[in-house]
Amino acid sequence: MTADSTQVRFQARTDGPRSGWLKKLILLSREYYYDAKRFIAHSGALSPRHLATLRALVTMDTHRVEKGLAIPSPKPWFGEPIIKRVLHNTSLYARLGGDEDVCKAALDAVESYLDANSQHAAAEPQWAPELKRTVAGLNEQLRPAGLLGGTKTVSRETVYKASRLDSLDFFTSRYSIRDFAADLVTEEQIAAAVAAAQHTPSVCNRQSWSVHVFPRGPHADAVLACQNGNAGFGHTASHILLITVDLRTFVYPGERNQGWVDGGMFAMSLLHAFHALGIGTCCLNWSVDSQADRRLRAVAEISSHEIVIMMLAVGQLPESLQVAASWRRPLDDVIRTGRLRQFTMQGGDQ
Ligand SMILES: Cc1cc2nc3c(=O)[nH]c(=O)nc-3n(C[C@H](O)[C@H](O)[C@H](O)COP(=O)(O)O)c2cc1C
Repeated sequence: MTADSTQVRFQARTDGPRSGWLKKLILLSREYYYDAKRFIAHSGALSPRHLATLRALVTMDTHRVEKGLAIPSPKPWFGEPIIKRVLHNTSLYARLGGDEDVCKAALDAVESYLDANSQHAAAEPQWAPELKRTVAGLNEQLRPAGLLGGTKTVSRETVYKASRLDSLDFFTSRYSIRDFAADLVTEEQIAAAVAAAQHTPSVCNRQSWSVHVFPRGPHADAVLACQNGNAGFGHTASHILLITVDLRTFVYPGERNQGWVDGGMFAMSLLHAFHALGIGTCCLNWSVDSQADRRLRAVAEISSHEIVIMMLAVGQLPESLQVAASWRRPLDDVIRTGRLRQFTMQGGDQ
């Protein structure tokens, strides 16, 4: 047990509002309500209403098919309900004028599924011929495109080669930069970093993120004025990026916090992508109350289905600069042996 797990009474000072706990509780409930209202209005948790949610449903099921094919020994003709549902939703989405690449990826996945199943001896289920007819019909409807869905073979060597870093210094040499050089980051560099960050894993491959780019000057200044952690350096950044997530891509109550996870992971990849290009970044928190969130939405065009994950200041590195030491917790504090509440040698956990 560490000292931190002891409960003690103390009067620490914070910069939060000074009020009684009841008032604080009411204010906190109001903030939760603000977030919940947006999630309920835009996600598909109550019922899917937006085309973007249908797109997410197609993408999720496409991914379920792909991931089912990517395991060591997929069960013959696995997942009948998923296969039928993805085709139903894809036809619907195509009919409603949805993104053809999304439909094509779904079809590619189902075709890979048919291919894989044709290669083993298990008898075709009775729903297979109908499935093939639907696939053929949809294929005729969609323009040809490269392979977008299904699985692909990757060799360990390719991964090893491409991911080889000289050392883990890549991670330990990234600092939050609060003093940027005058030179601008180019649009191409931003595009390259975002393209790399798009390889971030996301829940069922839904890729809910967007990046709003504000160049140095009045545009960046306007959004920086809504944020509380950039005093003295924000204006030196070449660009301010605003990372948002589309709530319409989430469909279950259990996904109410998923946007923060996927958006946060994407943001981290983006930081590392800029780092790989030798460009400095500083995360700018969006830990704000509803009032500040409304203020930003009044200044910047952020759709109501988007939540703001954070801002990111990006800019070129000066020749030499000061960075915060940012002490790290000892590894022993971080890596902990996983313990079960109850464990018997015979039966495992109960
Ligand atoms: C979500 C998030 C929000 C942050 N917000 C701010 C901010 O508003 N202003 C700032 O100067 N730094 C901000 N930071 C940077 C942290 O202070 C910094 O990452 C941390 O101290 C570790 O230092 P390092 O990034 O140099 O390793 C933020 C970091 C994260 C992850």
